[in-house]
Amino acid sequence: MSDNRVKVVEVGPRDGLQDESRYVPAETKLKLIHKLADCGIPVIEVTSFVSPRWVPQLADAEEIMAGLNRMPGVHYPVLVPNERGYQRARAAGANEVAVFTAASEAFNQKNINCSIDESFDRFRPVLERAAEDGVRVRGYISCVLGCPYQGEVRISDIVRVAGALKDAGCAEISLGDTIGVGTARKVREVVSAILELVPDNQLAVHFHDTYGQALANILTSLELGVRIVDSSVAGIGGCPYARGATGNVATEDVIYQLHGLGMETGVDLDALASTGRWIAGTLGRQGSRAGTAIYNKNFAD
Ligand code: HMG
Ligand code: MG
Repeated sequence: MSDNRVKVVEVGPRDGLQDESRYVPAETKLKLIHKLADCGIPVIEVTSFVSPRWVPQLADAEEIMAGLNRMPGVHYPVLVPNERGYQRARAAGANEVAVFTAASEAFNQKNINCSIDESFDRFRPVLERAAEDGVRVRGYISCVLGCPYQGEVRISDIVRVAGALKDAGCAEISLGDTIGVGTARKVREVVSAILELVPDNQLAVHFHDTYGQALANILTSLELGVRIVDSSVAGIGGCPYARGATGNVATEDVIYQLHGLGMETGVDLDALASTGRWIAGTLGRQGSRAGTAIYNKNFAD
């Protein structure tokens, strides 16, 4: 990856929608995914093969995969919590997956009903199967900048989890500020520590924007060499197991920032602003700052 190029990983269809209380029809989800690909987004996390009892909104994962119109060059990874999820994902045609755990014991118990060490026992077999199948795996670490249940999260715990994901064969690791509490100084400490063991072209940042710090935290990460950024169109989302967490940073705001910094993303920001406006309207949400400004500039009288 050139130093000027940033890979934006769109997580709206999964992270953005998983916490919507009203069921969003599969047709709408597919329309969103296809519109995002049309905007030039290179990676779209499309759904999740978790237990439908835990996350009812994404119970239609098989239907999403079946309805996917894959655009050449675009990647369509899915989230899997365990071997069962991996088997479902593969049977549905997924060729890239993401596993997830947290650097906080308390959060793991609420989110996946097991300890950090037990989570290793769940994702290791997934990574073994994926290696045999030639499937690329991303590993998420939640709560790297704070936990809704235990507060502070030790850097040594984040390093331990990142090491386990890397040793198990993850091609990319994404650092999640699940509840959006982090500020730039903490980001600098955590990202610097993880860059000691994960190369910058394999490290992503995944910031939720609860306290409005996500763009500052992304800028700090970019300055440290990170070139993979997760975001959610229109800033949709939250986390079912982190009360009060808002959506990820909005993709429109991130692309505006990156283009302003002279970085390349391959994304058509005007088209993205329209997509963001459409999905925000469909969900009855406000939409992103940059998306709204672009829409007003282009279309409002
Ligand atoms: P469990 O209850 O501890 O485990 O759930 P279990 O093995 O006893 O399974 C319970 C039931 O689920 C059983 O069904 C299983 O068959 C079924 P029952 O016999 O009771 O009818 N089951 C499954 N069904 C479909 N697909 C599967 C599957 N696995 C088990 N894959 C489990 C453990 C992990 C399954 C559960 O806790 C779960 O699904 N959790 C999902 C949590 C989740 O999706 N959280 C949100 C995503 S993470 C996130 O948003 C953070 C991130 O964005 C980064 C950040 O922001 O930090 C990635
Ligand atoms: Mg998230």
